[in-house]
Amino acid sequence: MNLQDKVALVTGSGVRLGQAIAQKLGQLGMRVVIHYHHSEKGAKQTVKLLPGDESRHLILQADLKDVSAIKELVRKAEDKSGPISVLINNAADFFPTPFFSTSEEEWDHLFELNLKAPFFLAQTIAEGMKKRGEGKIINMVDVSADRPWSGFLPYCTSKAGLSSLTIGLARALAPEVQVNAIAPGTVLPPPDHAEMDLSESVKRSLLKRIGLAEDIVQAVEYLLKSDFVTGTILPVDGGRSVY
Ligand SMILES: NC(=O)c1ccc[n+]([C@@H]2O[C@H](COP(=O)([O-])OP(=O)(O)OC[C@H]3O[C@@H](n4cnc5c(N)ncnc54)[C@H](OP(=O)(O)O)[C@@H]3O)[C@@H](O)[C@H]2O)c1
Repeated sequence: MNLQDKVALVTGSGVRLGQAIAQKLGQLGMRVVIHYHHSEKGAKQTVKLLPGDESRHLILQADLKDVSAIKELVRKAEDKSGPISVLINNAADFFPTPFFSTSEEEWDHLFELNLKAPFFLAQTIAEGMKKRGEGKIINMVDVSADRPWSGFLPYCTSKAGLSSLTIGLARALAPEVQVNAIAPGTVLPPPDHAEMDLSESVKRSLLKRIGLAEDIVQAVEYLLKSDFVTGTILPVDGGRSVY
């Protein structure tokens, strides 16, 4: 698929990995729909990082836990920017949930945002992709989807669901649409991540470092440029998954 001037929606692109991915898509010549939930300031910074005129891109707010807000987001994006050719399901939440004290609310929150939202975003956008005969979807999963951490079970199992959804969507949307996932190891740890956990992540990887945003961005670029890869979950984890 020729990416030049095509429209890409990157969820959660006002901060961190989403921002870095949006920047790369802009560098690849795409027009980017920068979605945010609370990080309006970050979204405005993102648009400034993109090459070319700011009017090529669009900033939109939505709470992706609400399916009607997802439909409204896609409607506004396509009305203003044109049909979406690339969807990057990046937005997610991540926090510890000790097994015996995990609440139903925490479970529902993580599943609604990390799994249900990517499903309905794909459902809303992919019909047009299929009709137009091309499209790419990339889901951000996690190295912990296959070997869940006991203190983060709702997060890890929501990402395992997203991993399974990636393969299911690849089958449902072929041959017009390619659907893949990236499974990062520790990349840009959250600011409150304990120092000890971080050295543990490094110790448990083959390449003995945590990842950089650039490591993930390169994987996104590869998956967008390839026209013969679908239904794959690409670990970008310094060898953590095979340690
Ligand atoms: N960083 C890592 O080391 C790592 C490792 C493995 C997997 N991943 C995956 O990679 C992706 C990006 O990671 P990250 O660390 O950059 O994420 P992050 O810093 O935690 O950012 C999460 C994003 O999700 C958005 N978001 C949160 N709640 C939302 C809601 N209700 N509706 C809409 N958007 C919402 C946030 O938007 P606002 O800020 O606008 O509120 C933010 O942009 C995630 O899917 C994550 O699971 C990351």
